Amino acid sequence: MTELSIGFTESERARVGELYWAAFGPKLRIAFRDEATGVAQVTAALRPDRALIARVDGQVAGMCGFHHDGHGAVDLSWARLRAGLGTAAAAWAALTLAPLDRSERKTPDGRERKTPDRREMNGVLVLDGICVAAEHRGHGIGSALLDAITELAAQHGDQWVQLSVVDTNPRAEALYRRQGFATAEHGSLGPLRHLYGFDRYRTMRKRTW
Ligand SMILES: CC(C)(COP(=O)(O)OP(=O)(O)OC[C@H]1O[C@@H](n2cnc3c(N)ncnc32)[C@H](O)[C@@H]1OP(=O)(O)O)[C@@H](O)C(=O)NCCC(=O)NCCS
Repeated sequence: MTELSIGFTESERARVGELYWAAFGPKLRIAFRDEATGVAQVTAALRPDRALIARVDGQVAGMCGFHHDGHGAVDLSWARLRAGLGTAAAAWAALTLAPLDRSERKTPDGRERKTPDRREMNGVLVLDGICVAAEHRGHGIGSALLDAITELAAQHGDQWVQLSVVDTNPRAEALYRRQGFATAEHGSLGPLRHLYGFDRYRTMRKRTW
C-alpha cells in the first residue's frame, strides 16, 4: 500500500539521498570530487520539510521535492558546502551548481528570457526533483506524487506547478504531459553541456485549478 506525506525521519535520510542521487547524480556529479562525496553532501543537505515522500509498506519508495520560502529539497547553500567540503572544493561546487539554476531560456514562441533564478516565483510551486526507486517504477507512484504536489500547491494558493525535464528523458516528459503539464520555456546549457551530460531542457507547467 502506498502512502504519501511530507517529511522523512533521520533513519530514512540515507535512503532518500540514495534515491535522489540515483536520479540526479549524473548532472550533480561534476560539482564533487567523487561520487561518495556527492552522495554524502546531497544526503546531508536534504530538507524533510521540502520533500513529499511515498512509502510502500512503510518503506521509502519515492520522493518529490519542492521549493518554498527560498529553500528546495536539497539545500546546498554556500555555508553548508564550505562546512562540508572546505573553501576551495566548496567554491568549485558552487560554481558548477550555479548554471543548473541560472541558464538561458526561451519561451515556446522563441523569445529569449533571462531570469536570474527560476526557483521562486509568485503563484508557482517549483518542484525540486521527482524520483521513484527503480523497483517501484511503473506502478503509479510518480503520478500519485504529482497529483499530491498539485493539491499541495493549490492549498498554498499557487496557481501553477512547475518542473524541468532534460531532453534526454523523453519518458519522464511523456508522463508529465499525460499529467497535464505543458511546455512553458525551453532552456539550454550552451557550451556547458559537456560538463553536465545534457544540453537542452524544458520547463513545464500545470495549472492547479
Ligand atoms: C519519472 C518517474 C519519477 C516516474 O515515476 P513512476 O512511479 O515510474 O511513474 P508512473 O508509474 O506514475 O508512470 C509511469 C510512467 O513514468 C515514466 N517512466 C517510467 N520509468 C521511467 C524511467 N526510468 N525514467 C523516466 N521516466 C520513466 C513513463 O512515462 C512511464 O509510462 P510508460 O510506462 O507508459 O512509459 C520515475 O520513473 C523515476 O524516478 N525515473 C528516474 C528519475 C527521473 O527520470 N526523474 C524525473 C526527472 S525530471
